[in-house]
Amino acid sequence: MNISLESALEEAETRYTAANPASAARHSSARTAMPGGNTRTVLHYAPFPLAWAKGKGAHLTDLDGHTYADFLGEYSAGLYGHSNPVILDAVRSALDGGIVLGGPNRYEAELAAMICDRFPSIQLLRFCNSGTEANVFAIQTARAATGKPAILAFDGSYHGGVLYFRQGGAPLNLPVKTLTATYNDPDGAEAMIRAHAHELAAVIVEPMLGGGGCIPAERAFLIALRRACTEHNVILIFDEVMTSRLSTGGCQALVGVTPDMTTLGKYLGGGMSFGAFGGRTDLMARFDPERADAWPHAGTFNNNVLSMAAGLAGMKTLLNAAALSALNRKGDRLRQAINEVAQRHDVALKATGTGSFVGMHFTRTDITRPGDLDPAGADRRSKLQNLMHLDLIAAGQFYARRGFIALMLPITDAEIETFAGAVEEFVTSRKSLL
Ligand SMILES: Cc1ncc(COP(=O)(O)O)c(C=O)c1O
Repeated sequence: MNISLESALEEAETRYTAANPASAARHSSARTAMPGGNTRTVLHYAPFPLAWAKGKGAHLTDLDGHTYADFLGEYSAGLYGHSNPVILDAVRSALDGGIVLGGPNRYEAELAAMICDRFPSIQLLRFCNSGTEANVFAIQTARAATGKPAILAFDGSYHGGVLYFRQGGAPLNLPVKTLTATYNDPDGAEAMIRAHAHELAAVIVEPMLGGGGCIPAERAFLIALRRACTEHNVILIFDEVMTSRLSTGGCQALVGVTPDMTTLGKYLGGGMSFGAFGGRTDLMARFDPERADAWPHAGTFNNNVLSMAAGLAGMKTLLNAAALSALNRKGDRLRQAINEVAQRHDVALKATGTGSFVGMHFTRTDITRPGDLDPAGADRRSKLQNLMHLDLIAAGQFYARRGFIALMLPITDAEIETFAGAVEEFVTSRKSLL
């Protein structure tokens, strides 16, 4: 087919619009009350996002009645799937006990104790409402503890809506002095920490860049950060909001590098809103309200019964080493299958990630740092991502437009193969454009 990428995309958008009138109508009416019809930027994609009517297991049904295999898994928060009976029972039983109780409840201390048992770096923790909030509190804890003002983050990283470090920062970022260094460059990061030790309170790092393209940290990089932070009295924060599900003790347990503080979020509330930050006793003990010098930490919904009950039930019953390893193996298989498709058809497509996280990129280059993706080709790569997303949606496969996949526990081996088959169909039918 002799067709340009732009016309292929236009045709695919026309087909998509015709197939999804109810989602289109919802989008237009939503625009009257929310800017762009949207209240969470990452959920927007052109020409309009599919709106969901319901989810069951690892499947989603949209307002027009189409059903999809869900490979997005709510950006990793949907680990348990949409209707796990353990989670549903826990929520129902919590509801029966009354919500908004305004005091400690029966769940929170047990959930906190389990998390402390599992994560090597967490001796004490505090709950909050989101991963963003967890990172803000961890950073402020480090600044208050060290008396130093600045932090070091890595190009391409995402730590929440006000901690966004792609292409040099974002207009709404927290007004905290932030230096940035290159991800997976141990020497560069060590030199930066050494040079700025006098002003650096914390280094914050994702053990795998999630939003930044599923690029895993090399162990040597994390070890170098650990060493430099210890030497220079800088607090090392692992943002494990996404990666904590890579093992029962998070990515830190897998790589054997223990930070001073860890932040959590996403699936750990069983699918309810969730955040937590924790770490060394000497840092976290300052939140003890009985201390004269206590740091206050508020948050009406920090211990809300639904998140605490669902999180506890999930961790007790579902979140075991065998289940997480099996899911990681499914991710390994999907990555391998997509890379085999790319090789078989000799096209510029590469699957990255680790365990149950997969990133798809239109490139032939090995990607170990965000800068490995040639900026000159960004526009073309983004159009190809749009086209593949629309084609895979037409094939009943749903994931994030930027090429991000977070597997959910109920996804089956057969569904992994079907997804890889849909990628192969895309590569075959669009070969002249790739
Ligand atoms: C690594 C990482 N940190 C922090 C956050 C922010 O979490 P939340 O969306 O719960 O605020 C995210 C969300 O995608 C994330 O991936």
